[in-house]
Amino acid sequence: MNDFVRIVEVGPRDGLQNEAAMLATADKIALVDRLSATGLRSIEATSFVSPKWVPQLADAAEVMAGIRRHPGVSYPVLVPNEHGYERARAAGAGEVAVFTAASEAFNRRNINASIDESIERFVPVLARAQLDRVPVRGYVSTVLGCPYRGDVPLDDVVRVARRLHELGCHEISLGDTIGVGTPLKARRMLLAVAAEVPMAALAVHFHDTYGCALANVAACVEAGVRVADSAVAGTGGCPYARGASGNVASEDLVYMLRGMGIDTGIDLEALAETGRWLALRLGRETGSKVGRALAAA
Ligand code: HMG
Ligand code: MG
Repeated sequence: MNDFVRIVEVGPRDGLQNEAAMLATADKIALVDRLSATGLRSIEATSFVSPKWVPQLADAAEVMAGIRRHPGVSYPVLVPNEHGYERARAAGAGEVAVFTAASEAFNRRNINASIDESIERFVPVLARAQLDRVPVRGYVSTVLGCPYRGDVPLDDVVRVARRLHELGCHEISLGDTIGVGTPLKARRMLLAVAAEVPMAALAVHFHDTYGCALANVAACVEAGVRVADSAVAGTGGCPYARGASGNVASEDLVYMLRGMGIDTGIDLEALAETGRWLALRLGRETGSKVGRALAAA
């Protein structure tokens, strides 16, 4: 396989929103700047959600003001509603991401809305984004399981992904929020969505709670997806999904894809170095096996 996979680095957002240690704003800015120098093309920089709900990212505007934007790199930010969109735009965001779920129970706890209500909130966001020529990504969470209701029917995943796509999201990221997926299930889920939404508009987003995240990405890449989310140093989780562990580590993903003959355009050494730097700032070991192996070599 000789191909290209675009990695969407979600560490500064999905990673930091759930770390026990609160990173200083200057360190968040330094993290994004370091990531910008690794060859990554998409770095989710922060999130304009309610600071009462996610205090870790209350300094979103300061982060956006402080980062040095590299040409060719996009810095999307998460927004839950029109207010978030306004804050994001005022802070200079040129790309945003909206998020909902395939499970009603999870969505209620994550954004205090039903799936339909959350999509209603996105309508004005997408309308304004279209006028502003701001690309909008859409996330569907809990695509392989929900912390509150267990199994999530595939039909629900497909329906929500299709609605986000029809609404104008250019890319739909399919999130295994609590990391319960396994490769065959992940592949089946991806192919079911790809029957309704073009594969070129899909991304996969795995958490590593049960150690299957890399295997899941491999299965989905073999099935045709070409965008994968990950977080440097394997940081993260979801504050409204108890037990959800870190995202698949970006370093491990780059290493694995390289072994599959797939280019990511990313300098693995620089990325691993950034992961170790971040782990030090967070006061813990890096969650990337590749990061640890390279440091020991
Ligand atoms: P609510 O309390 O139901 O909303 O929260 P509300 O509209 O009644 O507003 C309450 C207060 O929040 C008001 O302020 C609003 O102004 C303010 P008050 O009058 O009390 O002072 N507010 C805001 N402030 C700043 N920015 C905003 C904003 N909106 C309202 N955008 C709300 C509803 C959606 C705001 C809240 O539930 C929320 O922010 N939730 C975010 C939860 C979150 O970020 N979860 C993690 C991200 S999702 C995830 O990690 C999964 C993913 O990675 C994929 C995967 O892994 O599967 C994407
Ligand atoms: Mg996530």
